[in-house]
Amino acid sequence: MMSAKTITSIPFADQKPGTSGLRKKVAVFQSPHYLENFVQAIFDTIAAPQGSMLVLGGDGRHFNREAIQVILRMAAANGFGKVLVGQGGILSTPAASCVIRKYRTYGGIILSASHNPGGPDGDFGIKYNTGNGGPAPEKITEAIYARSKALESYRIFEAPDVALDQVGKFVMGGMAVEVIDPVTDYADLMESLFDFDAIRAMIQGGFRLCFDAMHAVTGPYGREILERRLGAPVGTVINGVPLPDFGGGHPDPNLTYAHELVEIMYGADAPDFGAASDGDGDRNMILGRHFFVNPSDSLAVIAANAALAPGYAAGLAGVARSMPTSEAVDRVAAKLGIPCYETPTGWKFFGNLMDAGKVTLCGEESFGTGSSHVREKDGLWAVLFWLNILAKRGQPVEKIVYGHWAEYGRNIYSRHDYEGLPSAAANGVMAHLQSQFAELPGKQFGAWRVKFCDDFSYTDPVDGSVSTGQGLRISFEDGSRIVFRLSGTGTEGATLRIYLEAFEPDAARHGQDAQQALAGLIAIANELSELKQRTGREQPTVIT
Ligand code: G1P
Ligand code: ZN
Repeated sequence: MMSAKTITSIPFADQKPGTSGLRKKVAVFQSPHYLENFVQAIFDTIAAPQGSMLVLGGDGRHFNREAIQVILRMAAANGFGKVLVGQGGILSTPAASCVIRKYRTYGGIILSASHNPGGPDGDFGIKYNTGNGGPAPEKITEAIYARSKALESYRIFEAPDVALDQVGKFVMGGMAVEVIDPVTDYADLMESLFDFDAIRAMIQGGFRLCFDAMHAVTGPYGREILERRLGAPVGTVINGVPLPDFGGGHPDPNLTYAHELVEIMYGADAPDFGAASDGDGDRNMILGRHFFVNPSDSLAVIAANAALAPGYAAGLAGVARSMPTSEAVDRVAAKLGIPCYETPTGWKFFGNLMDAGKVTLCGEESFGTGSSHVREKDGLWAVLFWLNILAKRGQPVEKIVYGHWAEYGRNIYSRHDYEGLPSAAANGVMAHLQSQFAELPGKQFGAWRVKFCDDFSYTDPVDGSVSTGQGLRISFEDGSRIVFRLSGTGTEGATLRIYLEAFEPDAARHGQDAQQALAGLIAIANELSELKQRTGREQPTVIT
């Protein structure tokens, strides 16, 4: 006999969602009641009306399937009327956002730790998205956290596992479960936004591309869209089979971790275009032949060329970027005469701006670009936008980027990450920096004079909510910037991110290597932060 049960649990003190949901080691999520406690905290907080519809899916990482079954049973016991779950438990983050919006569900639960490694010793994550398809805003995630620290029981239905591997309809108590194809709705949305005929013709004309799905969720999406709908040859998508441990790799599309793609794109006989996406499909890296497009530049190029894509031909309402993202897009916005918003790090801050119709495009330096077509960043969307631009302009990637710099100037940009630092050392660096803020303005460091420094805070122009402590900024008179921020997504120790930006108007100097061009600022960052003394680290873990 199937029935709903109330299980006595214990509250947990550590279920505070970070930049993007709750992320912990798989073993933590597998410990008794841990997942259940957080899911019950979500359900209690959102208080969905009886019979509401929910979307459920994840990036396929280790523990995805088990967690899906638990959440389905808990949804049934908590009064949901229907759950749309991706076949095999799969939904990329942007596809989940698309499905929530298309079927007007109450919200959705996405299982992912994004680009963090997976497998039994890797990370797992869970986040709640609201009915607009976007990550829950801070006031909801804070309430979930508060609830998770207090609740002492959860409700779960006793029922056999749902067969996730075929599309179909099931019943669990009073709740319907519909296993949906995870790709079609998303692929249809992409086809409605971009000029697939032009891209198909370009590919037929001999244009060659390579897409690295990094053994993560975008494999099936890439094959359907690039190979089947756009006619790229089979094999265009590499590492296209999603694996629970991502093949042992680190599914983060950057020059360090997407090394297979990088070797292809920098090798002899490289294709015209290369791209990669991350664990859950919301990030993107864009490469031309022997050429890397910095994500901040990618956002600016997309904004400047948006009218070439049918879905954006009517123009952009505005653009937004996270604070540490380079100001390249600000220059495009100024020229287009549209507003540009600067938000804290994390996609959740863009949702209000898009819902209010204030922005169409938004992006982050961390390989995240997107638009109001969904409420998440979207890796394949960015890839298709680039393909649309390339098909319409008929120029190589490198030429388009250099042409962009010639028109707008180049915001030379890099991010240096120091991963796995002891928290005390990382906090010490931040505190030491902040302690100098009163006396820094006006001080000269080589060619640079400090204009202002602050701890970035943001007042949401739509709902007035205030987010403080969003990163330490040191801005110089010539527009250069250094930003220090502690990561909110790591699961081991602390990750310190240093964001460096300098503006170069002179086209004769646009070919410079970013690390060389930024060397002066890097030295200032080291000096002001006492980074080496305080952490014992000589070099960043990752440079992007
Ligand atoms: C990182 C990125 C941030 C992005 C987030 C989720 O967060 O820096 O831009 O939104 O991952 O993909 P962080 O670890 O810096 O808090
Ligand atoms: Zn991601």
